[in-house]
Amino acid sequence: MKNRALIALPKGRLYEKAVDLLGRAGIRIPPAPDGSRKLVFPDADGRFDFVLLKPIDIPVYVESGAIDAGIVGSDVLREREADVYEPVDLGIGKCRLVLAAPAGVALSSAGSLRVATKYPRTAELFFRARQLHVHIVKLDGSVEIAPLLGLADAIVDLVETGRTLMENGMHELEDVARVSAKLIVNRTAMKMKSADVRHLITLLDTVVYENPGQQK
Ligand code: PRP
Repeated sequence: MKNRALIALPKGRLYEKAVDLLGRAGIRIPPAPDGSRKLVFPDADGRFDFVLLKPIDIPVYVESGAIDAGIVGSDVLREREADVYEPVDLGIGKCRLVLAAPAGVALSSAGSLRVATKYPRTAELFFRARQLHVHIVKLDGSVEIAPLLGLADAIVDLVETGRTLMENGMHELEDVARVSAKLIVNRTAMKMKSADVRHLITLLDTVVYENPGQQK
């Protein structure tokens, strides 16, 4: 690996949108060769190195300096409370974090609510701000199933189209946060790899601010 800036890309639903945005910024991510498990790879012009990671791990790597920068949802960033720069709101991966429950469950009964979520810290802060005591059940996915199976009364989870909530008989009670993807940068890398990092910020800034309507 050369001494290029190392940038984390999120696996999962944000990946294609991030690659598309980088492409529009002139940074072409080559498709992985069939069967490749290689996690670190350069862009087509060899200007940056990229590494594919689970979104929840990206703020940890970038805060520590093991990785210089990354693209990650503000949901994950808020949950990790990482001390990093957030120079660009990329405007992709827009969705909402909401409190939702099956019909008949209301927020007013929150004193005894069991709330399932992938975002325990964010959920704690949300209920604490409302002076409501709830029992948080930490899960890693398919959170909507928890009330159906009796594990929880309500959930705090992402809503994009609303289809998952609807198909599982849930309705929204309250917005917890608006979510979109951010570029995050390690504080030391901002100084030590200043040329590379500023180049990246400028390229992304240009796409985001000159074509705001094109972000998805
Ligand atoms: C997310 C989220 C919801 C769903 C919402 O899950 O946690 O389950 O998408 O999308 P919708 O409003 O468009 O239906 P994801 O697909 O990331 O997988 P997970 O449930 O395993 O976390």
